[in-house]
Formats: sequence, C-alpha cells, structure tokens
Amino acid sequence: MGSGLILGIESSCDETAAAVVERGALTRSSIVASQIATHAPYGGVVPELASREHLRNLVPITRAALKQAGCGLGDLDAVAVTHGPGLAGALLVGITYAKGLAFAQGIPLIAVNHLEGHIHAVLLEDKQNRDQGTGTREQDELPTPALALVVSGGHTHLFLARPPAVGAEVGAWQYTLIGRTLDDAAGEAFDKVAKLLGLGYPGGPWIDHLAQFGDPKVVPFGFAQIKNKAHLDGKAPRTKGARTAPIADLDRHFLFSFSGIKTAVLRYVEVHGMRASCEARQRSLMAMPNPTWQDAQALCDRQTLDLIASFQHAVVGDLLRKTFAAAEAVGAASVLVTGGVAANRELRVRFTAEAAERGLPVAFPTLALSTDNAAMIAAAAWPRFLAGEFAGWGLEADPRLTLA
Ligand code: KG4
Ligand code: ZN
Repeated sequence: MGSGLILGIESSCDETAAAVVERGALTRSSIVASQIATHAPYGGVVPELASREHLRNLVPITRAALKQAGCGLGDLDAVAVTHGPGLAGALLVGITYAKGLAFAQGIPLIAVNHLEGHIHAVLLEDKQNRDQGTGTREQDELPTPALALVVSGGHTHLFLARPPAVGAEVGAWQYTLIGRTLDDAAGEAFDKVAKLLGLGYPGGPWIDHLAQFGDPKVVPFGFAQIKNKAHLDGKAPRTKGARTAPIADLDRHFLFSFSGIKTAVLRYVEVHGMRASCEARQRSLMAMPNPTWQDAQALCDRQTLDLIASFQHAVVGDLLRKTFAAAEAVGAASVLVTGGVAANRELRVRFTAEAAERGLPVAFPTLALSTDNAAMIAAAAWPRFLAGEFAGWGLEADPRLTLA
C-alpha cells in the first residue's frame, strides 16, 4: 500500500464530483461541478441531461481533484465510486469512468452506497476536526452507535450506525434501518413547495433564506399519524432509492410522509387566492439573469413569507421529533444529520438545542459536505479498502440500492 490515497467519484444525481482522501481521514481535494443551471429551467433534474453533463464534466473534474491533491493517477491506491442509489444513467457514467481508471492503473475498484457516503461525510469531518484540534466538541470521538438522519432531495432515512466491532482491526460500518419516508423525501417537499410558490430550483436554500422573515406560527401544518404496520405491508413507497427497503418491520413512529404537507401548501395557496402572485413571482425571477434570495424576498408579501416559515418549521419539527424519539428508543449515543437538507439553518439550530437539552452529542457536515460530493465517497471506501472488499469489473449501477 502507498500513502492510502483513494480517488472518489460521485455522479448519482445532478452533481459531478471527484475527490482525493488520504486514509479516510484527510481530504486532500474535493471538487464538485453543480448542474443546477442546466436543470433550473425545468424545475427539477432531467435524467438525460444529468448523464450528458456527467460525461462532459468527469474528466476535467477528476484532473482538477488530482491537481489540487498534488498527486497523479500513479499515486492512487484505489478508485471508489457511487454505485447507487440514484439515476441509472448518471450512475453508469461514473462507474464506467471509475472502472477504466482503476483497470488502467491496476488498482482496486471500490463500490460505495451513496447513503453510506452521506454518513461518512460527518465521520470524515469529525475525524479531521479531532486530528487538527479544531472540533467544537473538544477532542472526543462521536460516540456510537449513532442515529443518522440522512435527509436530502432523494432520501429521508433513519439508520443506526455502528463502527466495525471492537477489536476488529478492519471492517465496514454496520447499519440498521430504523425509519424512512413512505413517499416524498423532505428535500423533495422543499423543492416542490418552492416551485409552487414561484421560487428557484433547488428550493431548499430559497426557503431557508426566506423563512427567517416570516412567522412560523401563522399556518399550523400538522403531520398525520402514520397508520398501523398492517396497513403498510406491501405498500410501495415512491422515493428514489427507497423502493425496496422493507417497511413492515419498522416502528411506525419513525416513518415519515411529506407528500401531505405539499398538498396542504397547495390548498392554502388556492384558498387564499395566492396562485396568480406565485406565477408572477416565477416570471419575474426567471426574467432576471442571476436572481438572489433578496430579489425573491422583495417579491414576497407577508402572507407568503409566513407560509414559507410555517412550512419549514413544520418539516423541521417532524424530522426533529422522530429523530430524537428514535435515538431514545434504540439507545443511540449520538445523533448525526446529513444530506442536502442538513444545510438548513433552522434544522441545525433546533437539532443543536434539542440535543443539548437531552445531553446527546449531535454532528452535521459543513455546508460543503452536506450536499453531494465525492470526499464522502472516498472516505466511506477506506474501511472497505482495509478489509479488501473490492468490486469486480462487472460492477453495475444499482438505482434502488438500499443500505442495511
Ligand atoms: O444531498 P443532495 O445534494 O442531493 C441528494 O442526494 O438528493 O440534496 C439536495 C436537496 C435538495 O432537495 C435541496 O432543496 C435540499 O437538499 N437543500 C436544502 C438546503 N440546501 C439544500 N433544504 C433545506 N434547506 C437548505 N438550506
Ligand atoms: Zn445525496
């Protein structure tokens, strides 16, 4: 083994990313090419366009990652790539490229689950903070088992994450599925509500910024109690990557559903005669070359800002209640929140306060590692590299891959 350098490649959705991470603990480089501008006019990710953009971006992004890391292909010990869940065509581009690189260099290929990647974004930074003495939680390692909330545009999952068994020098982390959404992911709700209100894409950051100017108590959105397990048997959830995860064995208190609140916002808009103003807002923002959230704020009246704040408050509250209830039920020693929605400020503030009240450590990735990136993929690959868990050259994309 050389210096423990793993090149990570991520192309599961709408970001093309490459990163070099040393021994799963030090980010030597992390480059992300966002496709937001490509998909924004359509208000969502267009799979064919995503594949085409990955194809265009992968080579220059990888070169840039190697250059920033100060190394060449010959210095790498392995290539790690996301093999699912995600968009089939998008995953395929990354996998094919990673295979080619690894084969040509004669080094192993490591397959990484995107959800495990998100969890390792937090673990990687936790490790880095401790190594560099910059952590906010002194030098203590994040206690395990950790209850991980993976919350993004495609996923809303609760996992109990355990490190390799004590005494075992090598081995992968173990994950147990504790809860998940039955329909939309939380980020998807942010995106759909933002679209309905005539805001930009992706919706999360717009709502996050505008919510601070509204009163979250104006619209009392509620979440219906998820029905008994018996009613859920055989029900096929619709979220990306969650279709095949079993739900029959899960405690219904830890199941999420975000399609209802989206409909409730739509109904509120219609009942209060706000539709025309939402459409006007969308036209105004689309006519601007580079609209900012301040531009959007100027186009929102009080009623709209209150609606946005109330929506975000309800979603964050639901995530918070179920996450901490699950942490208590399974005896988790810490909570970690990761994925695009973990960038949300109200979420961070409220999770931090709740954790402090319960005396439970909580960790989030930095904003850069909250959304999709490849450093998390290279970091998640390290325990597999040590354990010699390599992928074959026949590795395929698995759009519905589950974790646990
Ligand atoms: O992890 P990610 O980059 O991609 C997926 O794996 O889905 O997450 C993207 C999602 C989008 O739905 C986006 O609206 C949401 O994360 N998001 C946010 C924020 N920043 C991104 N949601 C709420 N608040 C934010 N600040
Ligand atoms: Zn993601």
